[in-house]
Amino acid sequence: MGEVRAASRGEALRFKPPDWKHACHVLLYAPCPGRLFGKIPLRYAVLMQMRFDGRLGFPGGFVDPQDASLEEGLSRELHEELGPGAALLQVTENDYLNAYISERPQRVVAHFYVKQLSLEELRTLEERAVQAKDHGLEVMGLLRVPLYILRDGVGGLPAFLSNTFISSARDQLIQALDVFQLVPKETLQKAVNVAQKTS
Ligand code: APR
Ligand code: MG
Repeated sequence: MGEVRAASRGEALRFKPPDWKHACHVLLYAPCPGRLFGKIPLRYAVLMQMRFDGRLGFPGGFVDPQDASLEEGLSRELHEELGPGAALLQVTENDYLNAYISERPQRVVAHFYVKQLSLEELRTLEERAVQAKDHGLEVMGLLRVPLYILRDGVGGLPAFLSNTFISSARDQLIQALDVFQLVPKETLQKAVNVAQKTS
């Protein structure tokens, strides 16, 4: 992957099609009170997906020139990738976090949204995701991100971060976990450091 940089929405919109392709992805999360093995707090359910290319990413995709807005393009992609449960979602400009701009392998502006749901809404999405048009095709399955570190110091978030991610998805994940305080700063820093050593 070439150089990637973060940008605000305003800055990102100055990169115009057809020279630049625009894509929108969303991190969906819900507070999750459960404990693993009755002990380890789960904190939040954070959704990602296994893509057709074996990499992890967020639901979403390229915005078409026919889409009236970024958010309409995202909504269309979410219907394709998440199925009928996506009708429950209203991702708006208020959920916009930032954009990642990369020139290689192609010129892409990747807009990134973060939206909180209730656990019930998130579970409904998960249940209906198998009915999505793209299920088993472009999307091999939805998954939740483990946000804890197990006693061996590697299992959980560090091991998860050692997977392969599409373009800037790993940076987007780490940024959102930090900004929305889904993981304590110290835990996140430790997970990133351990992942660096083990991958
Ligand atoms: N998750 C996924 N992709 C991301 C992310 C992210 N968090 N951040 C940036 N991207 C970039 C990647 O470069 C990716 O290829 O956005 C691009 C488009 O996103 P996709 O979700 O892959 O696009 P989608 O419209 O769902 O798929 C369109 O792309 O690779 C082709 O043929 C494939 O049909 C597929 C097509
Ligand atoms: Mg996609």
